[in-house]
Amino acid sequence: MLRLVSLVMALVFCGCWAASAAMGPQKVKNTVHNLSTSGEWMYISDNEDEICIFCHTPHGGSLNGPLWNRALPGALEFTHYTTATLDSVTDGASRALSDESLLCMSCHDGAMAVNHVLNPSNRTHVQPTMNFGQTDVSIVPIFGIGGRIGDVVDAINMPMGETRNLTDDHPISFSYDAVRAAYQGAGRGNQLHAPADAVAAGVRLYAPGNRVECGSCHDPHVNYDSTIPMGDPTANENYRPFLITPNIGSALCLACHNK
Ligand code: HEC
Ligand code: HEC
Ligand code: HEC
Ligand code: HEC
Repeated sequence: MLRLVSLVMALVFCGCWAASAAMGPQKVKNTVHNLSTSGEWMYISDNEDEICIFCHTPHGGSLNGPLWNRALPGALEFTHYTTATLDSVTDGASRALSDESLLCMSCHDGAMAVNHVLNPSNRTHVQPTMNFGQTDVSIVPIFGIGGRIGDVVDAINMPMGETRNLTDDHPISFSYDAVRAAYQGAGRGNQLHAPADAVAAGVRLYAPGNRVECGSCHDPHVNYDSTIPMGDPTANENYRPFLITPNIGSALCLACHNK
């Protein structure tokens, strides 16, 4: 408990990472992001009861995220979405992923083990194991449902093992400001809202450059699942799956796009 409190305090007082406040109900314990023994979904540990440890540690973590307890994949190992209509800012497969999105991809690439941390707990002194003692469990798509986004289609259309493909996913790791400036130059300035209006409508943009990352649309701690545990009254289903703001009537999309 003390450890949890000091971790939260350190993160809050540091204040160096948060882009803006997440507004949905918070309780990561009651979500699929609870990989500890108290988790209720598919990826749960058989020896580690700490919830935060799968992503955060009070000491000895990585400086690439908020007290981050995981190694990150290489920033250049991903291929991006590309089309003829995209602005040149977001077009091109060679763009590197920013750290804020690599945090997510350190599990969601389907390659890296979800249960391998930089600093294991002082009580176990070992890596968390899952599914009866396994140390390297990565996210696999099951009947096309799953938390691995480099993949749901890839698992069908691409050779197995291709996991870092973002070509069928909304563009990330680019500057919203730069795209907006290019739009204005091309006479399309009315098609994206001003960054302050987008943030006011509930999305996060990351400094520098007001970048769009996974966390622009997602909050990894939001309590959206009223079925874990059964009938959780504090959950709000409108935030499914881990949305930063509900997408009712496409409100999330319209926070940025003026369409
Ligand atoms: C599945 C991974 C994961 C788990 C588990 C997790 N977090 Fe986080 N946390 C993140 C990510 C990713 C961020 C960075 C979000 C962003 O882009 O701002 C973050 C950010 C934070 C921040 C910084 C402020 C903010 O909200 O962005 C705090 C504080 C925090 N987490 C506390 C906790 C605590 C306490 C727990 C355990 C009860 C926990 N987290 C569990 C992934 C996780
Ligand atoms: C420690 C590993 C880990 C990290 C880090 C992590 N996730 Fe997850 N995430 C999971 C697992 C495990 C699942 C459940 C996968 C499944 O059941 O197929 C999941 C599921 C999800 C889902 C689907 C939830 C649903 O109900 O269908 C979303 C959305 C998601 N994560 C977003 C994110 C985002 C965004 C980040 C970064 C801010 C992130 N995750 C970081 C492990 C992680
Ligand atoms: C522009 C907004 C946006 C961005 C950026 C974004 N997502 Fe999502 N994501 C969504 C929405 C909206 C959904 C829910 C779609 C639905 O319900 O139809 C979703 C669904 C998901 C799911 C559930 C499985 C699926 O394929 O539907 C996962 C996992 C996920 N996102 C992870 C991520 C990760 C990891 C990143 C960064 C690499 C990311 N998302 C970036 C908006 C976004
Ligand atoms: C945080 C702001 C933001 C959010 C939220 C957002 N987008 Fe985007 N989206 C952008 C920007 C900026 C681009 C890049 C446009 C460019 O480079 O031409 C983009 C690109 C796209 C493209 C590709 C356009 C092309 O020319 O190929 C589509 C389609 C799109 N978004 C739809 C959506 C949908 C649907 C949602 C909601 C699920 C959504 N977006 C949420 C900012 C956002």
